[in-house]
Amino acid sequence: MADTITITDNRTGKQYELKVTDGTIRALDLRQIKTSDDDFGLMSYDPAFMNTASCRSAITLIDGDKGILRYRGYPIEQLAESSNFLEVAWLLLRGELPTAAQYADWTHQITHHTYVHEYLKRAMDGFQHDAHAMGKLTAFLATLSTFYPKSKAVRDPKVREEHIVKIIAKMPTIAAWCFRHSVGRPYVYPDNSLSYCGNFINMLFNIGQPRFDPDPILERALDVLFILHADHEQNCSANAARAVGSAETDPYCSLAAASAALYGPLHGGANEAVLRMLGQIGDIKNVPAFIDSCKGGSGRLMGFGHRVYKNYDPRAKIIKELAHKVFAVTGKNPALEIALELEKIALNDDYFVKRKLYPNVDFYSGLIYQAMGFPVEMFPVLFAIPRAAGWLAQWQEMLADNDQKIARPRQIYTGSDIRDFVAIDKRGA
Ligand code: CMC
Repeated sequence: MADTITITDNRTGKQYELKVTDGTIRALDLRQIKTSDDDFGLMSYDPAFMNTASCRSAITLIDGDKGILRYRGYPIEQLAESSNFLEVAWLLLRGELPTAAQYADWTHQITHHTYVHEYLKRAMDGFQHDAHAMGKLTAFLATLSTFYPKSKAVRDPKVREEHIVKIIAKMPTIAAWCFRHSVGRPYVYPDNSLSYCGNFINMLFNIGQPRFDPDPILERALDVLFILHADHEQNCSANAARAVGSAETDPYCSLAAASAALYGPLHGGANEAVLRMLGQIGDIKNVPAFIDSCKGGSGRLMGFGHRVYKNYDPRAKIIKELAHKVFAVTGKNPALEIALELEKIALNDDYFVKRKLYPNVDFYSGLIYQAMGFPVEMFPVLFAIPRAAGWLAQWQEMLADNDQKIARPRQIYTGSDIRDFVAIDKRGA
């Protein structure tokens, strides 16, 4: 079978044979299809990248119809069961699971780069006490670039590696300080003797004691949530990291762009929006009316639906089970019953069934975060900490890819034709 496709241009009657590779044609190959010599050539129109592969990637595989998610070939279920976030971060960045020696060295490096410059506290003081944690996190990622101007040398793999370590190490510190700032508590410095999640929890909740020892079940639950959120191939924020990074912007500012994308309620802000929605519903008896209002177009059922998954999001399945383990320690989140009822009704409702809308990663994660004591504004930040590993893996892959150039889409111009400038006193009322 020939790996080509023949296109007949009915405008001219000409035929073109385009190469098909990995189930795709090169959009640039369309440019030879012209109606005349001065025609620019055919383009494809694909707002929101509904059917366009923007890169070749070996990091994460999603099969949306089968509900499959794999990092570097490893099923998410196995990683959630047997791995930990730092090991997964290495896997995403390097492509293989670390050996014991590599893992020990990696953990040592991450643990020893957790401190941030003291001046960052001054930047924090500039925010109002009620500033949203994602706004602060996004700003601090960009601020860090001013502390590390050498990170601009993005073509140098050694420099890249140095700043990848710094970012993964410092994300929990910045995130915890965003939280401490919002509740008016003194910042807690990193403790090198603790695990990645244990240290994060200590910086969040310790007050007036040498150390805050979290319940091991909650520490492990957070680690599993970090694994589940670590990467998700070409999502909106990864695409932002790649697009901004393609201008050879330093990794801190590239990740600030990704963080800004994640903030949105259709992306990582959805976990926060789910909790607000459950609060608004208020009682299980109000669920049918709320579902009806979503179907009537007055809002979305937050935490439902996905651009790629047209089956149950495999992360949501793991999180739902995890929620029960967490609630055994913290007590049940009262909003759980409303969430379960919403899920039950939606999964049997024609509107949601027809559109293949299933619970996504954000549907249950917020319930866990809330039971652990996080305010809702911190939920997207908890998503951003592990996703930094994915953003960096995507950013690094983009820089090493010879097919990539500065990201620069085309447009179909729909504005006025050329016209002469009109002086202000001649423009009428
Ligand atoms: N509630 C009600 N209707 C929905 C929902 C929803 N959550 N999601 C999609 N639809 C409807 C939508 O109105 C449209 O209906 P119609 O064909 O009649 O116009 C149809 O389903 C297709 O929706 P779409 O907006 O074209 O789908 P999309 O692939 O562009 O959007 C999505 C994907 C995730 C943005 C969307 O499903 C959504 O807004 N979900 C709620 C927000 C959410 O939970 N986001 C987290 C996503 S997972 C984690 C992450 O990415 O960070």
